[in-house]
Amino acid sequence: AKKITLPKLHEMAQNSQKIAMLTAHDSLSARMAEEAGVDIVLVGDSLAMVSMGFPDTSQITLDEMIYHCKAVKRGCQTPFIIGDLPFGSYEQSVEKGVESTVRMIKEGGADCVKFEGGRELAPMVERLSQYGIATMPHIGLTPQRQVATGGFKVQGRKAESAFRLLEDALVLESAGAQLFLLEGVPTEIGEVISSKVKIPVIGIGAGAGTSGQVLVQLDMLGGFDDFKPKFLKRYADLLGYSTSAMKQYVQEVRQNEFPQREHSYSMKEEEFIKFTK
Ligand code: KIV
Ligand code: NA
Repeated sequence: AKKITLPKLHEMAQNSQKIAMLTAHDSLSARMAEEAGVDIVLVGDSLAMVSMGFPDTSQITLDEMIYHCKAVKRGCQTPFIIGDLPFGSYEQSVEKGVESTVRMIKEGGADCVKFEGGRELAPMVERLSQYGIATMPHIGLTPQRQVATGGFKVQGRKAESAFRLLEDALVLESAGAQLFLLEGVPTEIGEVISSKVKIPVIGIGAGAGTSGQVLVQLDMLGGFDDFKPKFLKRYADLLGYSTSAMKQYVQEVRQNEFPQREHSYSMKEEEFIKFTK
């Protein structure tokens, strides 16, 4: 398969061909996503929670995100790769945001970067766009701001906040954004925003009316069970079957049923006789 490009993603959205995106955080998860045929792989800062054990995403660093992005890049060839800028790596200034973006691309190997926020990001999106760098603003529910919003709360439920959200999207699109991530909004708002902007809108908890969907890979595989948001569908029971496989291993080691002959190396009998003499 050929590498998925930004024009290809725009074309898919224009033809109402749904875009499938999943997160990945290492080479294995990237490879599995690629083999499953996903169009976009997101190295999301959710890995702070599902893979590093943090209660939220605030403590993961840019260096750590780059480290994970490198592993993802080595694990897949065809998906478009988006790197998430973590909390604290872009809020200070446009310069800081540009610097973090360049590092995510140059060191991490990302094709595009994602960052959370609305119209306040327009100057950064514009600057990056002028230099030909693609961006994906993440609007709606923005987990990096969960302290201010009082938790992971659905956004745009009231007409006024829905209108602000639409305005944010339009401002960011004119600033040069190439893709949107829309999280945690009513289906109606997901539909309206997707129809009012020309660029692809990838939704999570934003209903079926967006250009595509994204889920956190370990969430949808059933590899993370600290909590389960309404939008999440679990397609597998990774925790369940991985744990039962490991239980069987532990039991076989204790009962000396593993390893068997087929898992063991041997030497020529004459060599062994020489050795034991
Ligand atoms: O970090 C993440 O995984 C995300 C989601 C929207 C998928 O930002
Ligand atoms: Na994220």
